[in-house]
Amino acid sequence: MSQPIKVAITGAAGQIGYAMLFRIASGGLFGPDQPVTLGLLEITPALGALNGTLMELEDCAFPLLHGVTATDQAEEAFADADWVILVGGLPRKEGMSRADLIRANGPIFTGQGQAINAVAPRARVLVVANPCNTNCLIARSHAPNLPADRWFAMTRLDENRAKAQLAAKAGVNVGEVSRMTIWGNHSDTQYPDYKNALISGRPATEVIPDHSWLAETFIPTVAKRGGAVIKARGASSAASAANAALDSVRSASFPTKGEDWHSVAVVSDGNPYGVPGGLMYSFPIRSIDGQAWSIVPDLPLDGDARSRIDASARELEQEREAVKDLLGPAL
Ligand code: NAD
Ligand code: LMR
Repeated sequence: MSQPIKVAITGAAGQIGYAMLFRIASGGLFGPDQPVTLGLLEITPALGALNGTLMELEDCAFPLLHGVTATDQAEEAFADADWVILVGGLPRKEGMSRADLIRANGPIFTGQGQAINAVAPRARVLVVANPCNTNCLIARSHAPNLPADRWFAMTRLDENRAKAQLAAKAGVNVGEVSRMTIWGNHSDTQYPDYKNALISGRPATEVIPDHSWLAETFIPTVAKRGGAVIKARGASSAASAANAALDSVRSASFPTKGEDWHSVAVVSDGNPYGVPGGLMYSFPIRSIDGQAWSIVPDLPLDGDARSRIDASARELEQEREAVKDLLGPAL
């Protein structure tokens, strides 16, 4: 059996944490032959609840779970982690935008970025806590030891939502939808790019010739789905968010199959689409060998797509401006 992979998770006693830990420990992330260890971080008042989750993990008797650390000290949780998944932070409530969380959650990522920098030299980092693109920017800015290509912010839930909507409209299984790009911010300005998506190998726009549905219903349904879930369940998405986090880590950890790609926010430096450098911006991504990745180049973008892509970049620039006092030396 191979050496365990260490996954550190913040906010481990929260609702996404609860939906994620058991799947990782049972082999649902890296497969049935790969042991894992977990480093779980919580704020001090939540350690009691986290202890209850630990009891349940123990009671599952997962053979692949080779160790757990639960702590309120970031450096202890992150030590030598292969992956750090930053989930801890406030979720929004009905009527709020994700950007409304920026001043509450942003400061969490200064210290956590420093802790990753100090104790997790080989880590790759996925930020889930909102606003995730800009929280990732803050953490990265405090971690000069980690190369820029190790930082990711989660737009996979948007990708999965977009695939589900297209599949339902086309009357096919969701597995038939491929090449689904989410461009930009995990916010209402994101652009779910149906024009470059495929359904059963054919352009989605041919399979769904209803262009007004695609532009006027599909895009806002995907972009506003998080708010719709909050309205319906009285709490933000949890199981689907945990699922998307695992999809994101898995896609980065194994080479991309065939001609497909996935969506995740990465550092925009050197991108072929002219998105301003330094932002954490969601692109179509292919994993090369389970470590390196590249942005899929040369996708056709019409004027409408271009203006949506630019609007989301402008929003991320505004978010960066709103947290400039929190940014560290590594940008
Ligand atoms: P939750 O309130 O159920 O859990 C959050 C947990 O984080 C709590 O247990 C809290 O004690 C902990 N926490 C707070 N500050 C912390 C810190 N400094 N260090 C460690 N832990 C800390 O919330 P949730 O539903 O699990 O959502 C977590 C975050 O994920 C929210 O910001 C939410 O908006 C975001 N989210 C993002 C996506 C996405 O697609 N990117 C999807 C769903 C939710
Ligand atoms: C989501 O997209 O479901 C999450 O980002 C939670 C939210 O606040 O919408």
